[in-house]
Amino acid sequence: MEGVHVVDHPLVQHKLTLMRTDSRSTKGFRQLLNEIGMLLCYEVTRDLPTELVDIETPLQPMKAPMIAGKKLVFAPILRAGVGFLDGMLDLVPSARVAHIGLYRDPETLQAVEYYFKAPSDLADRLTIVMDPMLATANSAVAAIDRLKARGAKDIRFVCLLAAPEGIKRLRDAHPEVTIWTAAVDSHLNDHGYIVPGLGDAGDRMFGTK
Ligand code: URA
Repeated sequence: MEGVHVVDHPLVQHKLTLMRTDSRSTKGFRQLLNEIGMLLCYEVTRDLPTELVDIETPLQPMKAPMIAGKKLVFAPILRAGVGFLDGMLDLVPSARVAHIGLYRDPETLQAVEYYFKAPSDLADRLTIVMDPMLATANSAVAAIDRLKARGAKDIRFVCLLAAPEGIKRLRDAHPEVTIWTAAVDSHLNDHGYIVPGLGDAGDRMFGTK
């Protein structure tokens, strides 16, 4: 699928299966989302450029690689997107964070914005937008619209599960935004839930079912 990376690493797939399971506790679900966030961060940053810098080991000087180029902004879509954040920040502690508050109107399934706060230098950064569930993609498209309006030019999208409908909508709206996901499920149901999916990620993470 063009523009979509399915992260099929066994650890990711194993943890995803644990998360799908209906009996998983809130604590377990949150911890697994955090862990998968870290693993997906590893994949979404795989092609970051590096440059050789001069260092001294205890034995001798050498040239060694360090990450070069644009600095990162993590942009979780509230509220479920924050479930990825700690794991990603564990790997990239110096990243900036943009918060995008969107909720899905249960009737229209449209994204309604209630909060937006981002670093002022988005244009110079690589922005990684995150939301566990890419369902209708209304939230993802709205979040990326807002980030672009604020100057973001280089954007990637990370999710846990994607529906084919959501992938198509996001790719149609923002064809240059590549998607990283742990799985592509079958379809959306009439309520906009991913099937077979894992239910409402925010409710499962925060115990608000
Ligand atoms: N959001 C969720 O949390 N779950 C879905 O299945 C779809 C959207």
